[in-house]
Amino acid sequence: MIKYAADTSQLFEFQDQNDFDRFRDLLSRSGYMDAGLLDSIGINDDLPAIKGNNHPLLLERTASGSPLHTLIRLFLMEMPVPIDILKKTIKPMTVDDWEQAGLIHCRDQEVVAAIKLLPFQNLVVAFDLTSIMQTPLRENYVMGIGSSTITLSNLTIRRHSRRTLDLGAGCGIHAFLAAPHSDRTIAVDINPRAVQLAKFNAKLNNIRNIECLQGDFFRPVSEQKFDLVVSNPPFVISPETRFIYRDGGLEADSVTRKIVRNVPHVLNEGGYCQILCNWAQTKEQDWGERLENWFEGSGCDAWVMRSESLSAATYASTWIKHTEFFDQETEFAQRFRRWMDYYEEHGIQSVGAGLITMRKSTGKASWFRADESPDKMLGPCGESILAGFELRDFLETVKDDKTFLDSRLRHSPDIRLEQQFDPAEQGWKTTSSFITLTKGFAYRGNSDPLIANLLIKCDGKTPLKNLITDMAASLGASPEQLAPTLCGLIRKLIEQGFLLPGHQN
Ligand SMILES: C[S@@+](CC[C@H](N)C(=O)[O-])C[C@H]1O[C@@H](n2cnc3c(N)ncnc32)[C@H](O)[C@@H]1O
Repeated sequence: MIKYAADTSQLFEFQDQNDFDRFRDLLSRSGYMDAGLLDSIGINDDLPAIKGNNHPLLLERTASGSPLHTLIRLFLMEMPVPIDILKKTIKPMTVDDWEQAGLIHCRDQEVVAAIKLLPFQNLVVAFDLTSIMQTPLRENYVMGIGSSTITLSNLTIRRHSRRTLDLGAGCGIHAFLAAPHSDRTIAVDINPRAVQLAKFNAKLNNIRNIECLQGDFFRPVSEQKFDLVVSNPPFVISPETRFIYRDGGLEADSVTRKIVRNVPHVLNEGGYCQILCNWAQTKEQDWGERLENWFEGSGCDAWVMRSESLSAATYASTWIKHTEFFDQETEFAQRFRRWMDYYEEHGIQSVGAGLITMRKSTGKASWFRADESPDKMLGPCGESILAGFELRDFLETVKDDKTFLDSRLRHSPDIRLEQQFDPAEQGWKTTSSFITLTKGFAYRGNSDPLIANLLIKCDGKTPLKNLITDMAASLGASPEQLAPTLCGLIRKLIEQGFLLPGHQN
């Protein structure tokens, strides 16, 4: 574990507990919590990148001095606002209340925000301003709603959970999003500043079934069991240990490996763990084979979905530029060289990114799958993850082709077939044929018209072998010849959710 400096900054807490209600009332009355707020001022397209700026369009759109515009300028645009206007805006609360709670700093006749306050999915969450990165508090920086946060929240399994753990909770966002479908949620973070902010946010959003604990990963919850664990850990692979939110302090991708190895101890049977992470990829070994070792003996089925693979150089440049504000190119060059030396030392050629989902299922042989994510994810995808587990469970029961050919399959109601025909001498000629899914994991693939035809005939009642026999007859081939290739292809279509098990005997 890395030793970071103690954070002696302001506690985020109102003296009077009723002030949380007053603050929430103010935010909600002013329209600050409304869906569409960010759209209305034209900054919703790039939520993770909202920073203090004085873009003329934003200034124009927030110039009225209304409570909403004042709050937007203060907490979203990170602009100073006149103290007199703020006093009127926040009555019956006072500027002193806010300053003592750690929300603002007063200077002369102006007030500046000490935290960012962002409306997100019917919640409002406080986290650190990016400007903290230029102060001594930088290592304790509590990150806000980043693109990794949004990705994980979109992939989270949202079925009922008796107890949910948000591991590396930061400002607490995944714990809050899980609260409505959990009896109890626990947010754990090693950074005391993050725990303070998470507690503040829980009170601000009036979330009661939550506990925010400080500690090293599973240590504060080692005696408890969970139906769901979600984690967006400090997964960045680098030689550095400078930021709690980014650097886990272990070699290469060992932070994620450590979570994978330890989480089975706190999972209930049938419970899920979802980790958004990066992993090292080497020249010598296939990425899936390398990761498979992590899960051996875990008693969990594991499904890794890779969304991206970046060369070591692109990865290093991207992450270094996230946090450094270089005046001189030489500084960047030195840091970049150090990162690249580290990758060379560890044989890391590229870095994979994606989601690991584990499900505790002891008492049977566990399965492992490493797949590429679909190019598009449409809407929340937790249901697609659950369906993906069920489909892989089904495939485990029909491993040999003979059993598989007896199964009855149906096409997904979300499947669409797109075909393009070009005029030809004798009527029309098919020039392209695609199948796509319209919800969740929106896989899209080329589909031979013969396969498209087979898919359409999957009615959930006809055994697969009958469909293959019909296809073989139409081609003048024998079913035995076609079956091995078709079985492989149809298994892939099941994995991706185009085909589902129908009524089995
Ligand atoms: C990438 S941030 C994720 C924050 C938030 N969960 C999200 O998704 O936006 C990683 C978080 O893990 C926390 N963390 C780092 N090392 C930890 C450890 N050893 N135990 C618990 N939390 C840790 C950091 O303080 C940080 O808040």
